[in-house]
Amino acid sequence: MEIIRTIADMRAWRKTAGRVAFVPTMGNLHAGHLALVREARQQASKVVVSIFVNRLQFGQGEDFGAYPRTFEADSQKLIDAGVDVLFFPDEQALYPRVKQDFNVEPPHIQNELCGAFRPGHFRGVATVVTKLFNIVEPDVACFGKKDFQQLHIIRAMVADLDVDIEIKGVDTGRAEDGLALSSRNGYLSPAERAEAPRLFHNLDAIRQRLLAGDSDYAGMEQAARQDLEAHGWQVDYIEVRQADTLEIAHAGERHVVVLAAARLGKTRLIDNVDVRRD
Ligand code: PAJ
Repeated sequence: MEIIRTIADMRAWRKTAGRVAFVPTMGNLHAGHLALVREARQQASKVVVSIFVNRLQFGQGEDFGAYPRTFEADSQKLIDAGVDVLFFPDEQALYPRVKQDFNVEPPHIQNELCGAFRPGHFRGVATVVTKLFNIVEPDVACFGKKDFQQLHIIRAMVADLDVDIEIKGVDTGRAEDGLALSSRNGYLSPAERAEAPRLFHNLDAIRQRLLAGDSDYAGMEQAARQDLEAHGWQVDYIEVRQADTLEIAHAGERHVVVLAAARLGKTRLIDNVDVRRD
C-alpha cells in the first residue's frame, strides 16, 4: 500500500490508475469502515482510502482535539484489506489558509436532524468531500448508511452539481448486541457501553410497530424518547422521515427511515433503521 501525503502526488498517481473507488474517512478504523473498503474493492481495480480529521465539520466545543488518531493501527488494517493507496494529507495540505473563502453550502436539510444540533457540520462535510473528490477524482465513492443524513446530502450534492462520481451506500456494521460501530464508541465507559445498544433497540421497536401497520409516528417517537431518558440518555431527536427525500413522513408512507441522535454522558451516538412496507 502506498501512503500519499500531498495533493500533487495524489493527482500524479490518479493519472496512472484506471477505475478508482474511494472511501473517505476520519480514521480510527473499525469493521464498519472495512465493509466500505470491501464494497470499494468490488467496484474498481484500485481502491483509495483517505484519513483526514476535518476541522471544518466540528463545532465549537465538539471533539476535534480529542478525536482518536490511530494512524499505525489504521494503516495496518488497510494493508490487510488490500487497499492500494492511503491518502493522508495534513491540515496544511488541505487548508493552507486556515479558513477558506469558498464552501459548499447544502440546502435546508443541513439545519435539520443532526444539523439542528451541529450548526455548520454538513457544510464542513460537503466542502471537504468536494475537495477530496476533486483531488482523488474517483469513479465510485462509498459512504455508510450509518450516517444517513450525510449520505443523503452527498447524493443530492453530486446530483445537483453534476459530479461524475457514483455514490454507493453501505449497510451499517453493528456489534453483536446491535450497537452501530463508531469511532466515538471508544469514549464510552464500560457501564455506558453496556447501556449503548438501547438506542438501536428502540429504533428496532419502532421498526416492528411500523411493519405491523402502525402510523402513529409521534407516539412511537415519544415512547422511545421516554425509554431512553428513563435510562439516563439525553435525546437530541428521534424522527420518522421519508427515506428518499428525508422530508417529514406522512401516515402510511411506504419507505421511511427512523433516525436518532442521543447522548450518553459525554458521548453523542447516532443510528437509524430503514423500513420498507409493501
Ligand atoms: P467517518 O466517521 O470516519 O466515517 C467514514 C465512513 O464510514 C462514512 O461514510 C461513514 O458513514 C462510514 N461508517 C462509519 N461507521 C459505520 C458503520 N458502523 N457501518 C457502516 N459505515 C460506517 O463520515 C465521516 O468520517 C466524515 O464525515 C467524512 C465523510 C470522511 C468527511 O470528513
